[in-house]
Amino acid sequence: MVETARTPEAPAAYRHIIVTGGAGFIGSNFVHWVVDNQPDVHVTVLDALTYAGNRENLAGIAPERMTFVHGDICDPEVLASIVPDADAIVHFAAESHNDNSIADPAPFVRTNVEGTYRLLEAARAHGTRFHHVSTDEVYGDLALDDPARFTEDSPYKPSSPYSSTKAASDMLVRAWHRTYGVDVTISNCSNNYGPRQHIEKFIPRQITNIISGARPKLYGDGLNVRDWIHTEDHSSAVWAILTCGRAGETYLIGADGERSNIDVLRAILAAMGRGSDDFDWVRDRPGHDRRYAIDPTKLRRELGWQPRHTDFAEGLADTIRWYQDNPGWWQASKQAVEAKYAEQGQ
Ligand code: NAD
Ligand code: TYD
Repeated sequence: MVETARTPEAPAAYRHIIVTGGAGFIGSNFVHWVVDNQPDVHVTVLDALTYAGNRENLAGIAPERMTFVHGDICDPEVLASIVPDADAIVHFAAESHNDNSIADPAPFVRTNVEGTYRLLEAARAHGTRFHHVSTDEVYGDLALDDPARFTEDSPYKPSSPYSSTKAASDMLVRAWHRTYGVDVTISNCSNNYGPRQHIEKFIPRQITNIISGARPKLYGDGLNVRDWIHTEDHSSAVWAILTCGRAGETYLIGADGERSNIDVLRAILAAMGRGSDDFDWVRDRPGHDRRYAIDPTKLRRELGWQPRHTDFAEGLADTIRWYQDNPGWWQASKQAVEAKYAEQGQ
């Protein structure tokens, strides 16, 4: 088993990290965070630029701080060409949207399970530190009136093809640590919001509907609860775990942000000057998880991490402004995204 001396008092000093999925929503926010906050670190982004990846998400980063590699995490040759030179891999790349996984699970099994396996094998071959970015959805859901929140000891009970493939990837990471001694950590984070999130996801879909003159769409009874965290706080937590987390450990990341979907939607409507009932109820998601909630005590106590974005209304207002200021980033894909939802009755 790998023993590490990483602690908040003596963090590991990585000089060159690979970020998989660095052209996606959370990955690109993490790359910007590292470039802005860690001047001695060079980032190699490995991204296949699927429908969810966008090279523009990394615009403005100087070439001496970042190398972009257009490639697939399932391709061992690409991995063999970049992993030997890196001190650590931070693994964000995934198929990430539940509704897509219900319509077609195949790419989820390939990228989320096989892709993680390929990366773990590369990390094992080259003795590379590996941080795996996962989701709270691996724990299934909680009842609305359950006083409990998810902890690192909660049982795995994934509901959807998305969450089950993420759960499978977590299991591979744990096994590669125990069996082969790969130096891993895992983080399971709650729902992220912020700039550059794909417009298929809940918050940006509703914001861009309103900007486009369409009505927001709410699934089911709107009472499902998600535990929202600003993506910048996710980035700082991943950095803390990468550099100070104990080998083989899992850390849950959350910022005490539980809110029902209808409350979030009404906050968006109010912030954008619309009436509180200016939305459509649409067909529910099959197997729709009721509530997610994270107990982040371990991360806060052990690594001293704190979120900065504790005012949800302010974070939401900044996010709305970002979509208003960047129509060129999302407008070209809006019609196709909505056509796909319309086919599903959503
Ligand atoms: P995203 O869909 O916005 O981005 C995924 C990125 O991965 C894209 O740039 C895409 O091109 C790339 N990618 C996909 N398949 C690839 C492959 N085979 N090879 C290389 N690159 C590939 O996803 P996101 O919302 O930014 O999520 C990032 C990670 O965070 C995922 O692992 C997800 O499970 C996890 N997570 C997301 C949330 C959330 O709220 N979105 C919450 C907790 C955890
Ligand atoms: P989503 O952003 O897809 O994230 P996740 O499924 O990972 O939680 O959805 C967040 C919540 O919003 C979820 O309960 C489903 C709901 N939802 C809607 O009500 N309307 C929508 O148009 C979308 C995309 C999601």
